[in-house]
Amino acid sequence: MTKNTNYIKRLIFSVLAVALMSVPGAALAQSMPDAIKKDMLETGKKVYFKRCVWCHGVEGGGDGPSADRLFTRPRNFIQGTFKIRVTDSGELPMETDLIKTVKNGLQGSAMPAWGEFLSENEIVSVVQFVKSLVQDREWDDEDEEVNVQDFGTNPWGTTGPYHLGVPQADIDAGKEVFLKNKCFECHGGEGRGDGNPTMKDDWGFPIVAADWTQCWNFRGARRDPFNPFNVVRTITTGLNGTPMPNFKDQITVEDRWKIAAFVNSLCPRKNIDPLTNKPIPDFLIQSVYTEGQVSPMIDDPSWQSPDTDSRIVPFSDEIKDNPKRHYIAMAGQITRGKRNFDPKTDDLWVTSRWSAEDNAVYYLVEYHQRFMSQDPEYPDAVAMQWPAKLQDLFGAEKPYFIMGDSKKPVDIWKANFMAQDYNATNAPKPEGYKLKTSVEEFVGLGFDAVSTKESESKVQVVDSIYKQGRVKIMFKRNLKTDGEFDVQIPTEQFIPVSFLQWSGRDKEKDEHMAISTWYYTILKPALPASLYYMPPIMAVVFVCFQGWLIWMTKRTRKMYDEGKIKRDELPK
Ligand code: HEC
Ligand code: HEC
Repeated sequence: MTKNTNYIKRLIFSVLAVALMSVPGAALAQSMPDAIKKDMLETGKKVYFKRCVWCHGVEGGGDGPSADRLFTRPRNFIQGTFKIRVTDSGELPMETDLIKTVKNGLQGSAMPAWGEFLSENEIVSVVQFVKSLVQDREWDDEDEEVNVQDFGTNPWGTTGPYHLGVPQADIDAGKEVFLKNKCFECHGGEGRGDGNPTMKDDWGFPIVAADWTQCWNFRGARRDPFNPFNVVRTITTGLNGTPMPNFKDQITVEDRWKIAAFVNSLCPRKNIDPLTNKPIPDFLIQSVYTEGQVSPMIDDPSWQSPDTDSRIVPFSDEIKDNPKRHYIAMAGQITRGKRNFDPKTDDLWVTSRWSAEDNAVYYLVEYHQRFMSQDPEYPDAVAMQWPAKLQDLFGAEKPYFIMGDSKKPVDIWKANFMAQDYNATNAPKPEGYKLKTSVEEFVGLGFDAVSTKESESKVQVVDSIYKQGRVKIMFKRNLKTDGEFDVQIPTEQFIPVSFLQWSGRDKEKDEHMAISTWYYTILKPALPASLYYMPPIMAVVFVCFQGWLIWMTKRTRKMYDEGKIKRDELPK
C-alpha cells in the first residue's frame, strides 16, 4: 500500500472515529468501508489481548484467569448482554454506550476506566472487537433494531461535581415514588441494598442490589456519581442480565427525576478521588474532647453527625461541635493466602470522643453490610490495630501494617458479633437487630505470630447494632492500662491506627479479610479554659493600649507646645 492511500485511510478513519463518538454506532459500523473495519478490528484485537483478556477471556466468555476472584464477575460478551445503555430493556447497546463504558469503567466492579491508558482510536477499536465477540446476536440484523429512550431533562439544572440544590419537596415526592414502586424489596428501606439475598444474574452468579448510599459504586456512575441522570437512565432502561427491571411504564419521566433526586440525596457528598473514583479518605481521625462522661449510647445526640463532608454541606448548629464521621478506605489483603480477592466492604466510617474524667477513648466504627452471617463458625468481625509499643516508635515509624512485625508489635482489639433473631431471607426489621458481641485482644508480632493477650481484657464494646444494612460498633478503652502489649494512648499526639474487617457471610476468617492502611488518630485537647476568657481580655488590653497611645501622643504634644521638651528630645 502506498503512503498516500495510507494517509487517506487514516483521514477517513479519524473522521469516522469522531463521528462514532456522537452518532448511533451500529448503522455506522455497517456502512464503514471493509478495509477500515478490518484495520480497526486488528487494532482492537491487539488492545483486547493486551488489556482485556485477563478478565474477559480469550473468546470473551468472561472467564479470564482473574475472573474467579472477582465479584461481580467480568462480563461474558458471547450473548451480547450489556448493562449500561440508553436503549430499551433487552436491546443491544449503542456503540457510544460501550465507548463510554470502556472510557469510564464500571465503578464498584473490577472493570477499570481505560480513558487514561488508551487513545481514542484504541478505545473505538477495542469496542469494535468486543462487538465481534458477541456470537448469539447479530449487530447488523434488522431484528436488532434499538430504541433510544426518552430521559427528559434535569428539571433543576444541577451541575457537578455535587449536584446540590434540588428542592426538598422534590426529594420527598421522590420518596413516595420509591415506596409506591417497592424498590425497597431489593434495595432495602434506607437504600443500602439489603433487601434480598437470593438474587442471581443471567449467568447464574449471585448478585446484590446496589447500595444507593455509595453512589460512587454505581456501575453506570460514569465518574459523575452524584448526577441524577445516571439513576434516571437506570430505571428507564433496566440493567440487562440482572434482576434490576426498567420502570418506564410504571413511572413517568418527571417522577423518574424525582425518584432519582431521592436516591441521590442518600449518597453523602464527599470529595471523590479521580484515581480511585471513590471518596478521598480522611487520614486523620480526630477524637473530640468531651466535658464529663462520654455517652456510651450510639443513638445519643452527642454522636450524631452526617456522612456528608462538612466543607461541602455545613453541619447544622445543634451538631456543629460533634465529632466528624471519618471515611476509611478498605481493600482486600493481597500479600497472603487467597490473594487479590475483592472484599465486599470497601469502606468504614469512624467517629471518636474522649474524656479526661472517664480516662477513656471511644471509637464508633460503622460500615455497610447487606447481609449478616448466621453461622457461628464465621461471625462478623471488625478490629482496630495499634502499635503496641507506641512509646518506642521514632518519628513516623510504624509497625508492618498487617499484624505487625517482631521488632514492632501491634495491639489488636477485635469485636466478633452475630445478629440476634436474624434471618437474611426475612424482610429486614426496620428497628434493627441487637448484636451478641465478644471482644478479643491480640498481640501481633507478624502474620504467623498473632496470639491472644495473656493480660485480662480491657477493651469493651459498649454499644452495637445492625440496622438497615449498617453495622455500628462502639469500642471503649481506658487511656492508660497496665498490659505489656497494650497501646498507651496519649493526648495531643498523632497515633497510627488501622482497621480490619471480616464478613462472615462471605466466609471471611483469619487472613481472609479487608484491611486499611495506617491512618492517624489524635485526641484533640480540651480547649484550654483560657481560650474562653482570652478574647475579651485581649479586647480590653487592646483598647487600653490604644487609649494610652493617644494619651501619650497628646501629652507629648502638649509638653512640646508648652516648651517643656525640645524637638530633638522627642521620641523618634
Ligand atoms: C480487572 C478485570 C477487567 C479488565 C482488565 C477489563 N474488564 Fe471489562 N469488565 C470487568 C467486569 C468485572 C465487568 C462486569 C461488571 C459488572 O457486570 O458489574 C466488565 C464489563 C465490561 C463490559 C460490559 C459493560 C456493560 O454495560 O455491561 C464491557 C463492554 C467491558 N467490560 C469491556 C472491557 C474492555 C474493552 C477491556 C479492555 C480494554 C476490559 N473490559 C478490561 C472486568 C474487567
Ligand atoms: C427485583 C429487584 C430490584 C428492584 C425491585 C429494583 N432494583 Fe435497582 N437494582 C437491582 C439490582 C440487582 C441492582 C444491581 C445490578 C448490578 O450490580 O449490576 C440494581 C441496581 C440499581 C441501581 C444502580 C445502577 C448502577 O449504575 O449500578 C440503581 C440506581 C437502582 N437499582 C435503582 C432502583 C430504583 C430507583 C428502583 C425502584 C424504582 C429499583 N432499583 C428497583 C435490583 C432491583
